Amino acid sequence: MKVLIIGGTGLISAGIVTHLIARGAEVSMYNRGARERTVPSEVALIQGDRNQGDAFAAEFRGRRYDAVIDMICFTPEQAEATVRTFGGRCEHLLFCSTVCTYGVKVPPQVLIDERFPQEPISGYGRGKVACEGIFRRAHDRGDFKATILRPSHTYGPGGALIDQLEFDACSWDRIERGLPVIVADGGMGLWQSTHRDDCGQLFAYAALNPATYGEDYNATRDEVLTWRDYYEQVGRALGKPVQLVTLSADRIVALDPQRFGLLKEITRFHGAYTSAKAKRDVPEFRCVIGLTEGAAETFADVRRRGAWRKGASDAMYQRLVDDALAVDPPA
Ligand SMILES: NC(=O)c1ccc[n+]([C@@H]2O[C@H](COP(=O)([O-])OP(=O)(O)OC[C@H]3O[C@@H](n4cnc5c(N)ncnc54)[C@H](OP(=O)(O)O)[C@@H]3O)[C@@H](O)[C@H]2O)c1
Repeated sequence: MKVLIIGGTGLISAGIVTHLIARGAEVSMYNRGARERTVPSEVALIQGDRNQGDAFAAEFRGRRYDAVIDMICFTPEQAEATVRTFGGRCEHLLFCSTVCTYGVKVPPQVLIDERFPQEPISGYGRGKVACEGIFRRAHDRGDFKATILRPSHTYGPGGALIDQLEFDACSWDRIERGLPVIVADGGMGLWQSTHRDDCGQLFAYAALNPATYGEDYNATRDEVLTWRDYYEQVGRALGKPVQLVTLSADRIVALDPQRFGLLKEITRFHGAYTSAKAKRDVPEFRCVIGLTEGAAETFADVRRRGAWRKGASDAMYQRLVDDALAVDPPA
């Protein structure tokens, strides 16, 4: 099986590559080479920028793949470029979308499945919905077989571990130092986090699996956590107890909407999904890495890269903690 990954050195793609190699696939990846990443020696690297329209298409004119996985497609223009470049040149196109395409309502059965209305609230989610439509139409025309995969929060070595407020959280350093950390709105919102190797297994085994042709899948670990659980499990990876204080999401976002953009657009809302459909059609997909184990591995990598974010001297964060303690002092 010949597979091309567009954006192959990214966080989730690293997990996909691991499982594709285990599957015996011949893997190529296409990226700009902008970041330092260790790439397995058996992977062929093609350097280029997917946004350079003509050069992107020209690079692949004489090549054919069994499966192409587009990991770095956010706009209709990028989706159209992928369809033009690989239509008729691959059997199967897998598009990495996101659960942010669903919007923020809570279904009666709590878990969001693939039939839930796609009413995204962010530009990111709206862009992915538009891309999904372009790949579906290419599938219907017979350009290739298309499959849409929607990860929720996915983490692992190579990236930082989010907290409820920020992508690059300062709360992990605060927990290490015995300082309180903030959850929004009481911390009872629901959340799911998936290790990139578990998520990557779904992509790798969905490739060239006819059951997935023309289908869409949530790509999440089953375990549903409250934000309180999330901090607790990550705290275990640090070997420290966690002191939580709480403040309304509105109050936190109002202080700095840009800094707390993750909370504003994503983590203040319901985030619990079912991946039962993916497990039905791709039996190899089994999430085995728990959050405490995955967080410990991620932190070790963050420290190795010298990217550990300090939190104790963060005045804005401390101001939020002081506000929370003033409203609700510890017993
Ligand atoms: N991580 C999550 O929690 C999460 C959740 C839901 C959905 N997703 C989706 O997952 C996908 C991948 O996310 P990720 O977090 O794994 O990505 P990532 O770590 O940011 O990796 C991006 C990859 O794309 C390459 N790249 C970036 N711009 C490029 C360009 N113009 N041309 C060619 N290659 C380019 C990067 O390498 P170079 O920089 O060297 O080019 C890298 O290999 C995205 O579509 C995202 O929407 C992620």
